[in-house]
Amino acid sequence: MSKTYLVTGGAGFIGSNFIHYILERHQDILVVNVDKLTYAGNLENLKAVMDDNRYAFIQADVCDREAMVRLFEQYNIDYVVNFAAESHVDRSITDPGVFVSTNVMGTLNLLDAAKSSWMTGEDTYREGVRFLQVSTDEVYGSLGPEGFFTETTPLDPHSPYSASKASADLLVKAYGDTYKLPVNITRCSNNYGPYQFPEKLIPLMINNCLNKNSLPVYGDGMQVRDWLYVEDHCKAIDLVIRKGALGEVYNIGGHNEKPNIEIVKSIIAYVAEKLDPSIDERLIKHVTDRKGHDWRYGIDPTKIREALGWEPETMFSEGIRKTIDWYLENRQWMEHVTSGSYQQYYRSMYAGR
Ligand code: NAD
Ligand code: DAU
Repeated sequence: MSKTYLVTGGAGFIGSNFIHYILERHQDILVVNVDKLTYAGNLENLKAVMDDNRYAFIQADVCDREAMVRLFEQYNIDYVVNFAAESHVDRSITDPGVFVSTNVMGTLNLLDAAKSSWMTGEDTYREGVRFLQVSTDEVYGSLGPEGFFTETTPLDPHSPYSASKASADLLVKAYGDTYKLPVNITRCSNNYGPYQFPEKLIPLMINNCLNKNSLPVYGDGMQVRDWLYVEDHCKAIDLVIRKGALGEVYNIGGHNEKPNIEIVKSIIAYVAEKLDPSIDERLIKHVTDRKGHDWRYGIDPTKIREALGWEPETMFSEGIRKTIDWYLENRQWMEHVTSGSYQQYYRSMYAGR
């Protein structure tokens, strides 16, 4: 049956991968991408689907309540997938305010607009609708060397970013508990793959290797992240929105835990092998650690595996090669991002429509 997805933040890293993923897998869908186009929004990520009549782009801010209400009036939305966020921890440490606006107030606006549009009576909603909040393992805080985050791990956010994401999660839960809005929350570990903005560890290190710039490793580089190939994440989200049990939280992780320094060394080794043997570990520069740096994240994905049959399909050794190959084959994408030209070209193409 035909479904209309409202994808917020679809011009960002995971959102654009998700739009490609669902358009490839489902014929009979309409995808409405609403994105403010902050520095992190890049319409070049979606140039391959720009003319697909199953895809529409609207530039709007999730904090603009009226614009969100209008979207629900204009389209018969079945699914909301809320990716729109300020996503970078370092930026949240220097400028927390915008994280609260977008991540908390933006989510509240979307919840309200969905509730008003979908409501058919007291605590009842149109058949088959769902609101999925894309959250993060960072809401659980930090682990020591043992154990994993499960869905019942208490929330213990440390950075302004993770505090804003945890706040949004609690609002989504409240709309499920209070108004019986059909919601899900997914909490995912670190994603990597094509179209990631080069402020994040993996694309930053790839780009710096290519330019033979130093590779800034925070502190001793022994902090651990649990890396998930972005397409595996997209698959999990689409499964949860279609088959997830109402109101449930699902953790999504790759069982690919690695210390940062190992990631950096593996990028150096592969870029050197593919491109230039003079690129080596002398580029690594240990720099001042991130304030309040969470030491380890590790996801227990048992619930989503047992309930929905989801498992990560991409091993890190394969995913990192695919990712580096993509950045090597798409040097122009990176050039447009680092020069800033991505902010004009595709936007002006849309302005003419
Ligand atoms: P991103 O920063 O690459 O993209 C965010 C997108 O949201 C951009 O296109 C931006 O323009 C848009 N946006 C920002 N503010 C907006 C606003 N006020 N209104 C409308 N659009 C706005 O982020 P990402 O890495 O793709 O992350 C997407 C989501 O997934 C976020 O909610 C993030 O918290 C979550 N998440 C990310 C990761 C990860 O590893 N990247 C892991 C777990 C969860
Ligand atoms: O865990 C999920 C989270 O993963 C998401 O919720 C966030 O949106 C996403 O940005 C990501 O957060 P991290 O802070 O883990 O990602 P980042 O790529 O910024 O950093 C990964 C690790 O690498 C972290 O321990 C900090 C370190 N790092 C990062 C950068 C940018 C460095 O050592 N040097 C760097 O230059």
